[in-house]
Amino acid sequence: MALDEFYSLKKREGQPWPDQVDLDFVEITGSTNDDLKKRLRIQKITCPIGRVAVTQSAGRGTRGRVWKSSQGGFYFSLALLQKNIRPSLTLIPLAVGWGVSNVLRQYGIDAYMKWPNDIWINGGKAGGILCELVKDPEGRSNIVIGVGINYYDIPEKTTNGWPIRGIGEDQRFATPDERTDLIAALIVGILDTLLEDNEKIVCAWHEVNAFQGKNIALETENDRIVGQVIGIDVAGRLVLSTKNGVQAFLTGSISPYDDSLN
Ligand code: BTN
Repeated sequence: MALDEFYSLKKREGQPWPDQVDLDFVEITGSTNDDLKKRLRIQKITCPIGRVAVTQSAGRGTRGRVWKSSQGGFYFSLALLQKNIRPSLTLIPLAVGWGVSNVLRQYGIDAYMKWPNDIWINGGKAGGILCELVKDPEGRSNIVIGVGINYYDIPEKTTNGWPIRGIGEDQRFATPDERTDLIAALIVGILDTLLEDNEKIVCAWHEVNAFQGKNIALETENDRIVGQVIGIDVAGRLVLSTKNGVQAFLTGSISPYDDSLN
């Protein structure tokens, strides 16, 4: 699993490149998010930093879950000062998801987001986003953004029972150049998205929302709410039309709800 079999590590003519990012590529690490968090705790950064790994031995997902870094996937993190980006804290993961979906679409992949932070392709989870807040030695807030995207469809299911998808069908992103181009485009796309204001992100999110207008059930820690998805609000909450009126939820897990079965 040599690094140069996966990434060519260089900008190609006519391809996007995140010139402003201090970016490094490694063959293996525990977690790219943890690596950047460690660095931020001891060092204040002067530009965005990024780290890409061919694989991770201790990848982390949201809600304390383990993230399995399967063969061939894309695993990277970006860190930047919160004061240099526009979306409000709880909207950041959704803004990143919007940016990632748009870049994947530019590469011909029919990508969506399942609220709040699952990358959704062909009715299954193809990746996820983990955003964390870290203070540097001067007490400044930095955001660490981790993105994991599977390469292959995997015959297992997620903890919530969803199919696991990948973006590597049709021999896409098979060469080190293509893989490097994709990572660079994703980083540029995410950074651009973080310069948009809350209202723009909220309005545009419905274009990538896999459940826009659908009837869903939302499982929260102690409740199950049925409603129709209206969209998101500026805090990144899911806005539902329910039998008790319009309601917004900050956390929870959604699944389709079929009226005819009830
Ligand atoms: C989720 O779906 O729960 C979020 C998964 C986020 C995985 C990425 S892979 C790169 C970065 N490093 C990690 O340890 N996690 C994120």
